[in-house]
Amino acid sequence: MATMQSNVIRAVLCVVGARPNFMKMAPILGAFSSAVPRVPARLVHTGQHYDIAMNEQHFDALGLPRPDISLEVGSGSHAVQTAEVMRRFEPVLEEADPAAVLVVGDVNSTLACALVATKRGVPVIHVEAGLRSFDRSMPEEVNRVLTDQISDLLFTTEEGALANLEREGIPESRVRFVGNVMIDSVHRNLDRAVPSGETLGRATPAPPAHYGVVTLHRPSNVDDPAILRSLLRTLADVSRDLPLVFPVHPRTRARIDELDEAAWRDAAGVLVTEPLDYLSMLGLMRDAAVVLTDSGGMQEETTALGVPCLTLRHNTERPITVEQGTNTIVGTDPARILDAVADVLRTGGKAGRIPPKWDGRAAPRIAEELAAWLKARDREVA
Ligand code: UD1
Repeated sequence: MATMQSNVIRAVLCVVGARPNFMKMAPILGAFSSAVPRVPARLVHTGQHYDIAMNEQHFDALGLPRPDISLEVGSGSHAVQTAEVMRRFEPVLEEADPAAVLVVGDVNSTLACALVATKRGVPVIHVEAGLRSFDRSMPEEVNRVLTDQISDLLFTTEEGALANLEREGIPESRVRFVGNVMIDSVHRNLDRAVPSGETLGRATPAPPAHYGVVTLHRPSNVDDPAILRSLLRTLADVSRDLPLVFPVHPRTRARIDELDEAAWRDAAGVLVTEPLDYLSMLGLMRDAAVVLTDSGGMQEETTALGVPCLTLRHNTERPITVEQGTNTIVGTDPARILDAVADVLRTGGKAGRIPPKWDGRAAPRIAEELAAWLKARDREVA
């Protein structure tokens, strides 16, 4: 009996939903297919992000295979979106009968699919576990804490994550420190990155050679009109000394349009673009003097690229980027942001070093650990 069961290799159901999931999943699927023996996988896309700029163009740039299953949930309140993913994922899970469900990051789709899987007794694998901002007003923090609680195998990107997990009662035996798959994507794609001059040249006839990159999309920054207005005015001020390129997330674009802020409209030094594909964004970050962002992934990518990053938030769930990398938390106070940019322009910014296991080999480690874990689990079940 035992032999028959262990010879059947069931697939791992891998879930993506939103833009920051794609650059994490691409190297994982690559490592699964080149592992010996191969780790069979099927890709589910929940459809949390659906615009071409937020979705298809990343699949193409990253070489992600087309999803085997698309749930097409679209936007909604957190409750509606999470519930809709759960409702549509459950029959898929039942039909697929996978060995495990693998989720990445901290978006609503991550928690929704993890919850469905655990309730049906299917093991949950969480990649990028144990990160904590300790700010429960962030929707992602709630997703992180809850997903980790119901995960059977947790892959971490930085050593400090283990202490966070242990504090929440998760035993070390479930945790594997493998490094950062986001950085695998940087390594895989840096040679193919679109030169910044080309990207900027498409947006303006006189592309700046020295520039900063801005992204903003956190609800705490863009949903409060007073904070958003203040940030836009500050960026307009910064752009007098340093031209800024700002690929605008759809959520942010809607909020900016509602504000109709004159100082922003008239800021000649700010180049606003649609969201960029991964290879264009990578090229733009690599050549930037500084990146100003509230994105989690970009705090990590700038550390990997050695580019100074100013995080426009009051905390980070990725402290290693501050302790070892090029990241500085500056919050949203205008004077502090202006000072920090002036400092970068004067000194070149924080040098930083590459954190342990951010070496472009995290995904093969995951493939190896997961294969061993599934084998051991099969033996236990048999
Ligand atoms: C989500 C993630 C966030 C991640 C971000 C990256 C959660 C809780 N948040 O935030 O962690 O950093 O993705 O982008 O999961 N919209 C479009 N087109 C799209 C997708 C969204 O127009 O393809 C608009 C819709 O108006 C939508 C809004 O953007 O209501 C917000 O989208 P949503 O997926 O709810 O959250 P994000 O802000 O993108």
